[in-house]
Amino acid sequence: MCGIIGYVGKKTASPILYDSLKKLEYRGYDSCGVATVNGDGEIELKKGVGRIESVDKKVDFKSLTGKIGIAHTRWATHGKVETRNAHPFTSCNRHYALVHNGILENYVELKKELVKKGHTFTSSTDTEVLVHLIEEKMAHDDNSNLIKIITEVSQEAKGAFTFLLLDKVRKEIYAFRKDSPLIIGLGDNEFFASSDITSFLEYTNKAIILENYQLAVLNEDCIVYDVSTGLKIKPKVSTIDWTAEQASKSGYPHFMLKEIFEEVEISKHSLEQDPVKLKAMIEVLKKSKKVFILGSGTSYRACLLASIYFAQIAGKQITPVLGSEYKTYQNLVDKDTVIFAISQSGETADVLEGIYLAKEKGARVVSLVNVMGSTIMRESDQYLTLNAGPEIAVASTKAFTSQVLILTLLAYGLADKLNEGKDNLNEIVSVLDQVMNLSETLVKLAKDVLNKDDLYLIGRGSSYPVAMEGELKIKEIAYIHADALAGGELKHHTLALIVPGVTCLALVPNDQTKDDMINNIMQIKARGGEIIGISSENLDVFDYYIPIPQVHLESILMIPVLQMISYYLSVIRGNDPDFPRNLAKSVTVL
Ligand code: M6R
Repeated sequence: MCGIIGYVGKKTASPILYDSLKKLEYRGYDSCGVATVNGDGEIELKKGVGRIESVDKKVDFKSLTGKIGIAHTRWATHGKVETRNAHPFTSCNRHYALVHNGILENYVELKKELVKKGHTFTSSTDTEVLVHLIEEKMAHDDNSNLIKIITEVSQEAKGAFTFLLLDKVRKEIYAFRKDSPLIIGLGDNEFFASSDITSFLEYTNKAIILENYQLAVLNEDCIVYDVSTGLKIKPKVSTIDWTAEQASKSGYPHFMLKEIFEEVEISKHSLEQDPVKLKAMIEVLKKSKKVFILGSGTSYRACLLASIYFAQIAGKQITPVLGSEYKTYQNLVDKDTVIFAISQSGETADVLEGIYLAKEKGARVVSLVNVMGSTIMRESDQYLTLNAGPEIAVASTKAFTSQVLILTLLAYGLADKLNEGKDNLNEIVSVLDQVMNLSETLVKLAKDVLNKDDLYLIGRGSSYPVAMEGELKIKEIAYIHADALAGGELKHHTLALIVPGVTCLALVPNDQTKDDMINNIMQIKARGGEIIGISSENLDVFDYYIPIPQVHLESILMIPVLQMISYYLSVIRGNDPDFPRNLAKSVTVL
């Protein structure tokens, strides 16, 4: 969702801000803007609606001068997608410009008061209130102490309000965090403040991950304050082990395709978990009376698959819960409960809300995340990381595969069969490249057979959540209506939709579900449906066949197959798979 970036240093700010904005694009946005303090010491600002490149063609962001500036990608919540609602916003006296990530809940009341005091608003956003509130308070404080004023604002404002304030007089950026992430990049005589590490990775991998209510003042130096005490603090400087290359397309037409192909390498790293942390996680899950495993979207599909493997491999019940549905279970949660949060970004608001509520009941929170320093990671009593590198495409692919591998490894760990688990999962990893070699077959199938208005996917047992993930991906990026169901459910409803010409992807792993799957396939074929089988065995009942290598836990190998199918369908239909309409990478609103 919204992305913020600020720069102060010796170089011209606008080209750096422009490049960094491009790296925030993947978060999802509808408009963008840049403000700098120019050579005359004035705030200059350009913004517009649409993709960064097309706005730049109209306004020429790089023509902005000055060595300090802030920029923003907006994903509309309050106020229509219009240029006047794009950030940055300035105070009436144009001493300050501000960009914001989050939702200011009490903006209506605050705005009323500010209007009464004579402030003129130019937008319908919640954000603009912040810059006028700071201006108002500064006027009553002889424009002296911005840190004190930001402290007061942090007490009055409600909601999520991470922001960057550009001060033209002091030539400083005030980077304040409340709920939405904010990371300070420490370069060579230059500083960055951003929602996302990847936006400044090209310049530095040294970073301070701000905590809530921390404020970094950036000029020739970077001083961090805890505004709840007003005191300076010595923050921890982290070295980020991601590279700028990992966050680039590296010659692939889309990030999504690159990230699917990266699974071959990434999966090895995902299984190389720190043995001490892994053991500790296994122990907590083993000893827990109740486990709720929480996620949204694709990560929730990983939770579903985990609940099946935990049951089958370890005989352990864990309850998969959608982040947004967590409240339904709140009265079952107590101090003996473990909440296991699964999230690529570590910032998903639905999951975070569940975590906060569960903590009120004394539950222990553990997590599996990809982004180091993310809020979910920091709210957890213990965590494991995916080690998947930055995932840029909105559609989650390599992170899902890593989640599934690690969760399955944990299931083996709970069963005291860690070595057997490692062998089985390494066997999967060793044949992933063979699955990637299916791309030509899949392009042809996508063109000739699957490019329809409706698709059905069936699976049973562990292949059912995989079918659900395939359904999600096909809808998300190909904009095709898809429906995944457990094979046994067909006869209860969806068989009514099976008529000649209907296409169904059947996931048939070589396990105990195979005979039942064949039975379900026959029910579809009897009504004229055609079957594309994904299996290690070419069964007579298939009209088309996608061969995967024979391994233990074959369902896992079907994941990249479905990811590639959705990718090729998206491209064939003229969509941009990296930027599905209306969707954002990191969903930080409820
Ligand atoms: O970052 P998270 O894993 O918490 O994100 C959860 C969902 O928003 C995410 O998986 C979403 O469904 C993907 N875009 C699907 O490809």
